Amino acid sequence: MRAKTIISTFLFQASLIGAQGVPVRKLPGEFDIDGNTIIFEGTDGFDSMMRCSGNTVIQLTPDKKFVACCLDGQHLTGDEKTGFDCCADDHDRVGSAATGYHCCPKGQIFDGQVCKAEEKKEEETCANGKILVNGKCACPPGTKEIEDGTCEKEECSSGLETGKCYEFTAENGERLVFAGAWGYAVGPETKARRSGKFRFCKDKECAAGQPINPSDMFYMQDVHGHPRTGTRPNQWLNNAANGRHIGKTNDFSKAGKFSVSKWPCGKYCLSGFSAGLGIACPAADPSMSFYENDTQACMRFEITEIPCDIRKDENNCIWNNSPDQCCGGKVDCSAAKL
Ligand SMILES: *[C@@H]1O[C@H](CO)[C@@H](O)[C@H](O)[C@H]1NC(C)=O
Repeated sequence: MRAKTIISTFLFQASLIGAQGVPVRKLPGEFDIDGNTIIFEGTDGFDSMMRCSGNTVIQLTPDKKFVACCLDGQHLTGDEKTGFDCCADDHDRVGSAATGYHCCPKGQIFDGQVCKAEEKKEEETCANGKILVNGKCACPPGTKEIEDGTCEKEECSSGLETGKCYEFTAENGERLVFAGAWGYAVGPETKARRSGKFRFCKDKECAAGQPINPSDMFYMQDVHGHPRTGTRPNQWLNNAANGRHIGKTNDFSKAGKFSVSKWPCGKYCLSGFSAGLGIACPAADPSMSFYENDTQACMRFEITEIPCDIRKDENNCIWNNSPDQCCGGKVDCSAAKL
């Protein structure tokens, strides 16, 4: 005698037949399966049962709500909306109300006549103003993704920051060197002339980490002292104007007030905050001077970030071991690593 614990409130339904599908029976809440037979509580004290005839076997939907008689090796797929089918292994009942339904290999679609791979849209469209880059939606160049997933125009930055140190290279390849009484000059480094190591500051204490935009005023502190003796380190470039050579001073009230703007082709143009900046006198190694009424005058340099302290281990990160530095003298090689 088979054990049965059947309490059910089952509704025996007429067969549900999907378009060209297979007939199914809805199962009661509780039932027993014995081999090829399903047993459940009937009425008037009788049990009811369903058995698949011929060479078919009972197959249940994964949710065990419907049963059908399928050939061996088939399984029951589908639902009340699409109808049901006995499909072979690795096949599912797919299709649509418009096309009808059919057993197709998993992952394929039924177009009304044949099973086929799902068509990829000709050109995958990206939302939020994104474009397709290597098969992925990404923000177009010059923009970046913001929190809500849209692309926003990327704010350009100067790339210059307070607290950091920089050296200046003029268009002729010469550095801005400290030349003693001659002040700062564009010329070769020699025993007596050392390339300046300019720390950019917005205040006397040189609070670090503030961007230096073209509309900002900043001061420059030369970390280097005099060549060889090292005297007078960390002094301010002064405010010498109208042909007098900009040199250095210990007196912050006499510090030169500078501004700097990006210039085409990776360059910067150095000027005064309100005054302009130009060559002090004609020379092979010209010095600089502020010109108060020639306000748009500026001197073009390549500005390269260099370590403020040459003995910091973090300087190892200035460039990595990749043979491709592609820096062109610039410290930030991050773009090259992408
Ligand atoms: C700049 O212009 C002002 C006003 O015209 C004038 O008084 C001053 O002398 C000028 N400065 C120089 C250095 O030329």
